[in-house]
Amino acid sequence: MNQANIVVITGGSRGIGAATALECARRGLDVILTYHSQAQRADQVVRRITQEGGKAAALQLDISDATSFTGFRSAVEGLLADVWGMTELAGLVNNAGHGLFNPIATVSEAQFDSLMSVHLKGPFFLTQALQPLMRQGAAIVNLSSATTRVATPGVAPYAAFKGGLEVLTRYMAKEFGERRIRVNSVAPGAIRTELGGGLNKDFEALLASQTALGRVGEPEDVARVIGMLLTDDGAWVNAQNIEVAGGYII
Ligand SMILES: NC(=O)c1ccc[n+]([C@@H]2O[C@H](COP(=O)([O-])OP(=O)(O)OC[C@H]3O[C@@H](n4cnc5c(N)ncnc54)[C@H](OP(=O)(O)O)[C@@H]3O)[C@@H](O)[C@H]2O)c1
Repeated sequence: MNQANIVVITGGSRGIGAATALECARRGLDVILTYHSQAQRADQVVRRITQEGGKAAALQLDISDATSFTGFRSAVEGLLADVWGMTELAGLVNNAGHGLFNPIATVSEAQFDSLMSVHLKGPFFLTQALQPLMRQGAAIVNLSSATTRVATPGVAPYAAFKGGLEVLTRYMAKEFGERRIRVNSVAPGAIRTELGGGLNKDFEALLASQTALGRVGEPEDVARVIGMLLTDDGAWVNAQNIEVAGGYII
C-alpha cells in the first residue's frame, strides 16, 4: 500500500488556503488545515475533501502566538498517528494571514507588531517547530505578495514582512537542502478573497485595468501553482519566488 503524503496548510478555512487544500486533495495529497476563529468553515473544507474521496483534518492555530507552536506540533503528531498511522509530513504551506490598509504616517506600533508576528515571525517559528516532522524530499511554500515588487500605498509593513519572508525562503532552502526539502514562495497579486475586508467593485475594476490579463485573480489561480510546487511537478523548482498575478503592473 502506498503511504499517504500529508501537508499542513495554515489558514485553510477560506480564501487561498481553502482552495489550496482542495487542490492538494485533487493531486492525491492528504491535508491538515488550520483555522484561527472559523472552525465551521474549516469543517466545511474538510467535508468537501472527504466527499471528493480525499482525507483531511482541521486544527486551530493562532499564527501570531509562537509560544503555542510546540503544542501545535504535538497536536499534528497526534493527528498523524491517530488518523494516518504515520509520523511524517510531506509539506507545509505558510499561508495564514490578515491585511491592513494604513499609510506609513499612521501605522501604530501595535499594528506593525501584529503584522510582523503573523507574516514573518509566525512562519519562521512554525517552520522551525514542524521541520523535524518533515520527511526527506518534503516541500514548503510560503505565501508572499506582489506588493513586494510593486509599492502599493497603505501596505508598507505588510509588504516589508512579505519581503522578509521571500528572503527567509531562500535561507530555508539553503539550510534544509541537505534533507532534500524544497522551499519556494508564491506571491499573489490581487485575489478575490476576504483579506482586508475583500475587494469593492471600484477597486477591483482598477486592479483589473492594471493587470495584463484584464481581471483580478481567483483563489484557485494561486492554489494550482502551490499544488504544483508541493508535488513532483515542481521537483526541480527550489528557492524561487513565483509571482502569480496575471501580469500586474508590468
Ligand atoms: N488575497 C490577496 O489578494 C492576497 C494577495 C497577496 C498575498 N496574499 C496572502 O495570501 C495568504 C492568504 O490570504 P487570503 O486572501 O486567502 O486571506 P483570507 O481569505 O482573509 O483568509 C485568511 C486565512 O488566514 C487565517 N488567519 C487569519 N489570521 C490568522 C491568525 N492570526 N492565525 C492563524 N490563522 C489566521 C484565517 O482563519 P479564520 O478563517 O479562522 O479566520 C483564514 O483561514 C495571506 O498570507 C495573504 O497575505 C493574499
